[in-house]
Amino acid sequence: MTIPPGADALEQTVDKQTLRDGMAHVASAVNIVTTRGADGPYGSTASAVCSVADTPPTVLVCVNRATQSYSVIVRSGVLCINTIGPDDKALAMSFAGGTKDMAARFAGGAWGSAVTGSPVLDSAAVAFDCRRAGLHSLGTHDVLFATVVSLRRRDEASGLVCWRRSFHSLADGKDER
Ligand SMILES: Cc1cc2nc3c(=O)[nH]c(=O)nc-3n(C[C@H](O)[C@H](O)[C@H](O)COP(=O)(O)O)c2cc1C
Repeated sequence: MTIPPGADALEQTVDKQTLRDGMAHVASAVNIVTTRGADGPYGSTASAVCSVADTPPTVLVCVNRATQSYSVIVRSGVLCINTIGPDDKALAMSFAGGTKDMAARFAGGAWGSAVTGSPVLDSAAVAFDCRRAGLHSLGTHDVLFATVVSLRRRDEASGLVCWRRSFHSLADGKDER
């Protein structure tokens, strides 16, 4: 059998750490994804959030199925993606596993209830209140597609990104085009 040029490359993958180290160079917003469970609110920090379409208004979030929140989001069918600013860095780390207890996580911030009933963070730069629209499982994670049913925005809020494993506040100055 003749192996066409490049066939080896099709089989080859990079290891987990190489992928993680590469993705650390991709700056991303930091979000606290919340939902409501029968026994109270749930949430976890996620940077894998992306816009999909504006018609219908759709976003996606990639959630590890091992997180406490995953099965609760699937069961409730609702979620709120709270994009945080620099004042909520500690809260993001708490929702990233720094605090395991959900009540203690939520005690670290001020929350209201979005249209879907999901917790919405008062200090969020923007919050996308969503209904689950679809799901695609791949490896350890599910890509959850979600229809945005309501949105709250605080235009005075500063931006925050995670880049090379540290949080960076976004200054007001714009780069030259
Ligand atoms: C900056 C940052 C971004 C993260 N992004 C994601 C993500 O997009 N998807 C995900 O499943 N986990 C992500 N995590 C990890 C989860 O927040 C963490 O595994 C989870 O909240 C801890 O598990 P628990 O909620 O079950 O206690 C991220 C963590 C950090 C610190």
